[in-house]
Order: sequence, then C-alpha cells, then structure tokens
Amino acid sequence: MTDGPALLRATGISKSFPGVRALDDVHLDLRHGEVLALVGENGAGKSTLLKLLSGIHRPDAGTMELDGAPMSPAGPRQANELGISVIHQEFHLMPDLTVAQNIFIGREPRRAGLLIRDDELERRAGRLFERLGIPLDPRQPVAHLSVAGQQMVEIAKALSFDARVLIMDEPTAALTETEVATLFRIVRDFVSPRTGVIYVSHRMDEIKEISDRITVLRDGRYVDTLPTAGTATRDVIAAMVGRQLATGVRPEPAPGVADREVALAVRGLSTRALLKDVSFELYRGEILGLAGLMGAGRTEVARAIIGADRSSGAVEVNGKPVTVRSPADAVRHGIGYLSEDRKRYGLLLDQDVVRNVMLSSLPGMTRGGFVRDADGRRVAAEMVDRLSIRTPSVTQRAKNLSGGNQQKVVLAKWLVRDCDVLIVDEPTRGIDVGAKDEIYTLLTGLAAQGKSIVVISSELPEVLRLADRIVVMCEGRVTGTLANADATQHHIMELATRFGADRSLVTTGGDA
Ligand SMILES: Nc1ncnc2c1ncn2[C@@H]1O[C@H](COP(=O)(O)OP(=O)(O)OP(=O)(O)O)[C@@H](O)[C@H]1O
Ligand SMILES: [Mg+2]
Repeated sequence: MTDGPALLRATGISKSFPGVRALDDVHLDLRHGEVLALVGENGAGKSTLLKLLSGIHRPDAGTMELDGAPMSPAGPRQANELGISVIHQEFHLMPDLTVAQNIFIGREPRRAGLLIRDDELERRAGRLFERLGIPLDPRQPVAHLSVAGQQMVEIAKALSFDARVLIMDEPTAALTETEVATLFRIVRDFVSPRTGVIYVSHRMDEIKEISDRITVLRDGRYVDTLPTAGTATRDVIAAMVGRQLATGVRPEPAPGVADREVALAVRGLSTRALLKDVSFELYRGEILGLAGLMGAGRTEVARAIIGADRSSGAVEVNGKPVTVRSPADAVRHGIGYLSEDRKRYGLLLDQDVVRNVMLSSLPGMTRGGFVRDADGRRVAAEMVDRLSIRTPSVTQRAKNLSGGNQQKVVLAKWLVRDCDVLIVDEPTRGIDVGAKDEIYTLLTGLAAQGKSIVVISSELPEVLRLADRIVVMCEGRVTGTLANADATQHHIMELATRFGADRSLVTTGGDA
C-alpha cells in the first residue's frame, strides 16, 4: 500500500437484495495513476460494487472515500460532480435521439438562458470524437447504431465529463480488436497522477495488457488484490473460481466436409446498406465461424438470413429454397438466431427465468400460450444448473440477474428451442471464463447431434476453438474461407482487413 490516501477507497461494503447477498464486507482501493481491474465470475458482485461507487445504490454497510474524504453519492449526477464517471454494463442511451443529443443529455449547454442549438451540440460532439479518435457521426440517431457503436457513444459520454475516476464495466464486451485498441489508447491518455480507472472485464488478455493491479471478488466477497505483472493468468482465474480450471482444448477437427449434407446455403445475399454477394454453405453437424471487424457485416448476414432486414439473394434449407420474411418465419424453417443485442431482442426483463427460457419454445409444453408450470420449471432448472446461472430461484425476474447471467438465460432459451440451424451472435459476451467452457461444450455437443451452427464472434480464439471452418468478411463481402486447421489469428486478420475502400462503418442496416 502506498502512503497517503488512495484516490478511491471502499471499506467493509455490504449490500443485499431480496434473497441475495450481493456484497459482503468487500473492500477496494484505487491508487492515483493506476488502472485497477476488478474481476470475478458472473454474479460475483462487480457491477453492484460499481453501482455503489457511482451512487446508483446505497450500501447497507461500509464506507467510501475519495482522496481521503468520506463520500456517499446520493445519485449518479452527484457522483459525476465528484468526478466519478461510469460506463455501465447496460446501456442507457435514448434510441430516438442523435448521438450528440445522447452525449449531452440533461446538461445541454445554454447560452443566455436558452438551450443551444443541435448544430452546436454536434460540433462539440464532433470535437470530442476527434480528440478520442472515435469514428462516429454525431448526427446519427442512436437507434441506427450497432452494439459496438452504442458502446462507443457510452465511452465518449463518460469522457465528456471532467472525471478523475473512470469506471468501466465490461466496456469491450461488444468491441472487436480494433476498437479495443482505440479504447486502450483512450484509457492510457486518460490516466495521470490525479486520475485512476476501475476496469471490469472477463477477458484476461485485456486485463494483462491494461491493468496495474487486479482485485478479485468471489460470491460477493473480497478474495485478493494482485499485481498484474508477475501474476499468472491461471492464478487470477483460480482466485476467481476458487479452483484451478483445466484450459479448454479444441475438439477434434470435423471429418472432411465433402460428403456432408448442406443444411443451410446462402447465395448472393446483398443488402442496400452493406452486404455484397455473400455466399456460403453450412453443413449438417458443422460449426461455421463468421469472422470480421466491426462493420464487416457479420450480424447483417444473420439478420438477412432470418428476415429481420430486407435483402436480395437466396437462402436454402436442406437443399430447398425458402422465403424468410421475418424471424418468426425463420424459426418455422428451423433457423434460430441468438442476437448480439440482448436488450432489444433477447430478453424479457420483467419476466422470470422460466418464462424467458421457455419463451415460445417446445410446442406441447405450452397451453394457451402459457408454459406448463412444472415442465417449464424443470427445464429452466436444468439450464440454470448446466450453465451455472446464478439466481436465487427460477422465478427471479431477468432484470435482477447480473449481466452475464442474463446472457446465459438468453442462450438457454435457444439451446432449449430445438432449431436445426442456430446462428449465435457473440454467444459468450460477458460470460465468465468458467461458464464459457460449458457453453463451448454445449455448442459442440449440439453439432455432434447433427445441428448446424454459425458462430459470430469478435474473439478470434473463440472462433478458432469452436469452428470447423471460418468465413471471413470485410466490408460486406466474403474475403475468404478457411479450414480450421489452416487458420491462424494472423491469417484471419489479414482477410478481415482486405478493404476495398477506406470507410468507418458503425451502423446496422438502415441508411449507412
Ligand atoms: N437489483 C437487483 N435485485 C436483485 N438482485 C440483484 C440486483 N442487482 C444484482 N443482483 C444480484 O446480485 C448479485 C451480484 O450481481 P452483479 O450484477 O453485481 O454481478 P457481476 O459480478 O457484475 O456479474 P456479471 O459478470 O455477470 O456482470 C447477483 O446474484 C445478482 O443476481
Ligand atoms: Mg456485471
């Protein structure tokens, strides 16, 4: 411990919710000029601790200090005024407002008592983006942004305050490597002897790269704080999960695909906004990876296949052409899509775990639109167990679960729903290292049963771990297809950066 007061210190913090002790006598101390990583499994209490530091919740017990002075922010605004700026795990953007309006919401600068005009807001936002090196258009409505784009807005917003403590709750969960590099540059620029950063992430490689020390929580309790340099990743993980984890091995590569049936064929898929003549085949029992940078069009391919966006081109299921006009149509043809944007498409926040897992699933288990209680509970409980979803009961509402556990619930929904073709978009986003392996096992198990799976992931190790073959995209086109045996991260990145023309794209569909 250094002499003098810490920049930010929390001592003896406890916080309970009905049925859950989220934090129990936890402490944390952030030094001046450091990046402190905060790690722990899904539901360990990380976000709760950050919400106490930022005035969203009040602790049941414990004290907090800023530069040695007691602090107890009564709300987020007061925390901001104290110099604490937070990028939350959940986005809080207004979809109908522009990027610039979102950044300055609630504190629009006034001139002579009058609200200043939008073009001035846009100029200010533009200057902020320029300073941060973020390729966003301030005039764009937030509704048109991809998840990564929304994340960039949150980041810019947090940095638009004159903050001393920057708190980031899984800021890179939605970002690809290029954007992560941008974020890390921003973080490094931000850190100075008068500031500090608390950084929550499940990505161990990032934590190694960006942090100075690592504080570990487990089951709502403080475990340890370790110096990043000189601590092996497996020891951090062991502290998180309370045991050593065997690191996953990739399953045997699939047998030759030549004699396999084609489960899904995509031919000449194009959209007005982005996709150009995208074609590929997915074999029965295969896991196909879709790799590419943000804006490459991976999610757009999925959305076009399931009829969420308009496109031209053809889709064939089991060798027969199908017309898919909507996601419901897609499910009727046996194609499921786990969206990367859980909040918008995946989860009913006010419904319980059972209802979410069973959502319009398993015909025969529903009667008059309602899941039969006993069956639904049994299936949900099974999923809670397999995916180690941390919840006091299956009747807990989704909104009360931690981010990673919400993610597991959405995944469980699709695992329970019996689709022949499953497209999973960022399936392990926000999921802790222990549960990731279980999800990989579940997905490879489904493939072994003859299901066909498309995995979209920004984490190349994940694609390499899961996929039999990898289709790489750049700017809406397929730039190459690799067999897993021939694929390396380097090779994929090379194909992913075969730009035809330079552009920065952060929109999903709409008018790019
Ligand atoms: N508003 C709430 N009501 C009830 N329970 C809650 C609430 N907020 C959090 N919890 C519970 O508190 C525990 C800690 O949740 P928290 O969100 O802090 O976890 P986390 O470490 O951030 O996990 P993740 O990695 O999944 O984001 C969880 O069991 C969660 O279900
Ligand atoms: Mg969290």
